[in-house]
Amino acid sequence: MIITLMITGFEIHGTFKLMGFQTAVDIHNFVGLSWLVLFAFFVFWLLTTGEWKQYIPTTKKLFAVIFYYAFGIFKGHKHPVQKSKGAKHNPLQRLTYLGICAILLPLQMTTGLFYYLYNYIPASISLSNLAIAHTLPAFFLVNFLIIHVYMTTTGHSLFSHVAGMILGWEEIYETTHIQEWENKATKND
Ligand code: HEM
Repeated sequence: MIITLMITGFEIHGTFKLMGFQTAVDIHNFVGLSWLVLFAFFVFWLLTTGEWKQYIPTTKKLFAVIFYYAFGIFKGHKHPVQKSKGAKHNPLQRLTYLGICAILLPLQMTTGLFYYLYNYIPASISLSNLAIAHTLPAFFLVNFLIIHVYMTTTGHSLFSHVAGMILGWEEIYETTHIQEWENKATKND
């Protein structure tokens, strides 16, 4: 949905011509409103399951993770933080996802909704300022998406993180480690 909103949004902005302005507006408005509903479900799920705790920021091992992605990863070093069910995100992910989910996306959604309802609400903000306020976070989101897609390729295989995103399950160190240990044990037998 975000990718559709980006494509149609930047067509509306005039960055390129793909499906025509009117179609882009129609799709953008429909997907935009649907996205608001989906996000409400996401927030509800976070609160009812307690999964919001996964987004509490921490500086513990934050710099170790930054150094890993800047240097260690290219030297074949091990990731400094192992995933577990109770801590699915490393400190860098926690910080980034919190920024995206608590600041950038809500900003994109509220400005989008004001944009959508502009003719119906007594607005004290000009339409061009609203357009800027809606377009600026969109650039940040595109930036995030590019880095995010690169990051998905850094798992133990090229698509292991993507598989986890789609299937909802991912092999974590504990399981792969037990597997290695069992393999060694059977070899020794
Ligand atoms: C990640 C999500 C989104 C992205 C990346 C995005 C991006 C964009 C961009 C780049 C524009 C063009 C702005 C301009 O040049 O004036 C736009 C327009 C617009 N967006 Fe979004 N948007 C998103 C979500 C939403 C949501 C949730 C809504 C709420 C319904 C929304 C409603 C609108 C409206 C009404 C317009 C103006 C359409 C027109 O000119 O008729 N957008 N969006």
